[in-house]
Amino acid sequence: MQNKNFLTLSDFSKEEFRNILDKAIEIKTKCKAKEKTPILNGKTLAMIFEKPSNRTRVSFEVGIIQLGGNPIVIKPEEIQMGKREPIADISKVLSRYVDGVMMRVMRHTDLVEFAKHSDVPVINGLSDLFHPCQAAADLLTILEHKKSFSGVKVCYIGDGNNVCNSLIQACNLVDVEITVCCPKGFEPLIDSKHYKLERDPKKAAKGCDAIYTDVWVSMGEENAREKHKAFEGLTVNQNVMSNAKKDAIFLHCLPAHREEEVSTEVVDG
Ligand code: NVA
Repeated sequence: MQNKNFLTLSDFSKEEFRNILDKAIEIKTKCKAKEKTPILNGKTLAMIFEKPSNRTRVSFEVGIIQLGGNPIVIKPEEIQMGKREPIADISKVLSRYVDGVMMRVMRHTDLVEFAKHSDVPVINGLSDLFHPCQAAADLLTILEHKKSFSGVKVCYIGDGNNVCNSLIQACNLVDVEITVCCPKGFEPLIDSKHYKLERDPKKAAKGCDAIYTDVWVSMGEENAREKHKAFEGLTVNQNVMSNAKKDAIFLHCLPAHREEEVSTEVVDG
């Protein structure tokens, strides 16, 4: 049987994605009630990080433990992917020891190469192109706040990056409209029937239920000066938020750079 990987949200059908969100709600409710959900009893997840991580690492590690499994964190200097040994060899070896692998990688192509040789499921914990677990969690947050996806409108203001690509895919899976506002040359890779591009941040935010942003310069990017210039005027501030619905929520995958992509007032508000 072919492995079920989670490299991008396009690996899932609408029904499968909705089942994931419903399962997450069920497990969260049990967890809050201090009920155990040992569905990963005796299973081990290896986690490889080529880039720094706070939320992804801690949430995965805590989550696996809460589900009865064991997480192992592998540092990049230990594994030296593609340098000390080929990605295919690391993948084949890990498949014999662990039940799943989560990876945060510099290049999405490395993740695809790893998954190609793996006998166990591979989960994308952020690549240069996608951040599917983040987007799935964001849609769960929206569902928790808005109670339903029906009629919900999302607006993403900022770089058409990994987070934005996954957010467009996630919105598509639940039929939520998403408007992206980014400068010319920084558009997302993903298109969908629910996606719209708008250059004016206030127009983009109009009537939205959730406003989202991410850093202008992602980990590993070197064109910081050029990007800061291009993104001028795209800070999510109170002025932008006031165009959204009164009960609109603000989302950021974090870490946030206050007074760059978001004002202090909005991110702390
Ligand atoms: N776009 C950001 C997301 C961090 C969670 C980055 O890739 O650094």
